[in-house]
Amino acid sequence: MLSVIDFIHTNRDRYVSQLKQYLAIPSISALPEHTGDVRHCAEWTAEEMRRIGLENVRLEETPGNPIVYGEWLQAPGAPTILFYGHYDVQPVDPLDLWESPPFDATVRDGEIYARGAADDKGQVFMHFKAIEAHLKQAGRLPVNIKVVIEGEEEVGSKNLDDFVRANKARLAANVVVISDSAMFDRGVPSICYSLRGLAYFQIDLRGTKSDLHSGVFGGAVANPAMVLAHVLAQMKDKGGRIKIPGFYDDVRPLSDAERAAWRTLPFNEKKYRKDLGAPKLAGEKEFSVLERVWGRPTFEVNGLLSGFTGDGAKTVIPALAMAKVSMRLVPNQHPDKIAELFEAHVRKVAPKTVELKVTRMHGGKPWITDYDNPFVQAAGRAIEQGFGKAPVFCREGGSIPVVSTFQEELGVPAVLFGVGLPDENAHAPNERLDLSNFHNGIVASAILYEEIAKTG
Ligand code: BES
Ligand code: MN
Ligand code: MN
Repeated sequence: MLSVIDFIHTNRDRYVSQLKQYLAIPSISALPEHTGDVRHCAEWTAEEMRRIGLENVRLEETPGNPIVYGEWLQAPGAPTILFYGHYDVQPVDPLDLWESPPFDATVRDGEIYARGAADDKGQVFMHFKAIEAHLKQAGRLPVNIKVVIEGEEEVGSKNLDDFVRANKARLAANVVVISDSAMFDRGVPSICYSLRGLAYFQIDLRGTKSDLHSGVFGGAVANPAMVLAHVLAQMKDKGGRIKIPGFYDDVRPLSDAERAAWRTLPFNEKKYRKDLGAPKLAGEKEFSVLERVWGRPTFEVNGLLSGFTGDGAKTVIPALAMAKVSMRLVPNQHPDKIAELFEAHVRKVAPKTVELKVTRMHGGKPWITDYDNPFVQAAGRAIEQGFGKAPVFCREGGSIPVVSTFQEELGVPAVLFGVGLPDENAHAPNERLDLSNFHNGIVASAILYEEIAKTG
């Protein structure tokens, strides 16, 4: 094991220059014009998996972007890890706010800046390098490993569930390992035991067949932008509670023990607010900030479009108004049930003066696990050795749709060990990854495989 760790320390610079190549591929899954780049990225991922010594590496075609699969199964009797990550990234707009180009990775003050640095190429690469260190230095891994890297996570993992269901035997494992989340804070490594789910929609309203002169027709027809504002205003009350009937029915209350555990975490509300640049925080008064983002569901408007938004003034009644909205869900809410409740509520509150269309975009189930198992303990020991500190246990407000699918279809526990930081701008301009966390993460991952082997 010492020589494996030595190998990792000696190769530090090479890891960064290789990661730069990975980050140079604009694998934006949300934009059709990047379909070719996404495929190129899948091929690059597969090539890299072959280089580090994985076997049977191939692209699994789906109706969407390919899934990259590879394995190393030469440790008979040892446990099998299913490692999951994603090679697709979020769009980069607004581009002018980036201090260096999003696909030309740049190192500044010990952090590597690029789209995908933290979410998730950097964290996937960390495990690739840990696997490589074992295979190149020891000629073997202490565990069996199956690797699944998908290209549609950022658009809801539309095709991955079918792949998992169709390949249950091939994907069978003892534990799922994922690095696609953040540490609680700088210097506070963590293990995540719950993710929120998601239900995403587009609302389209049409008032008339064309835009109208607001003087000639104003007063006689509905304004879809006003109607949309009204509809959206019916979704939440002043206290931040969602008004969709039945919305909270399946919300599992937070236990006193869990709330007490979160109060011991090193969280500073004033600093949190200041770092966000918010004049005042919002949300449900009966819940702390961590409870609001980890344990409570939300309703958000993600985008709005209607009418004249250029310079100057134009007297017009827009024909159309559009909103993208989504809800974060917590255990045990189900995205399909929430979709029905939401659509019924929108239909009820929208007046007859407009034509209404609600489109379901994508969804994902929330996930929660009992973290009292030997794999989580193994991860705790590995993180402590890699980061010099035992991890704290936390939930996350983000979503990784496949995690609950793995749990339900494969029936195995998942260990979420993320090394991003909450302020590393995932999905925003100037995304970055701290290189010491990246490096410690490679060491911790290499040790994690060793520690998981001991559970067998
Ligand atoms: N890696 C994130 C999810 C995440 C972020 C987990 C922070 C824990 C902490 C993932 O890539 C992501 O962004 N997921 C989407 C899922 C959606 C498109 C279905 C999300 O959460 O918005
Ligand atoms: Mn991610
Ligand atoms: Mn993401």
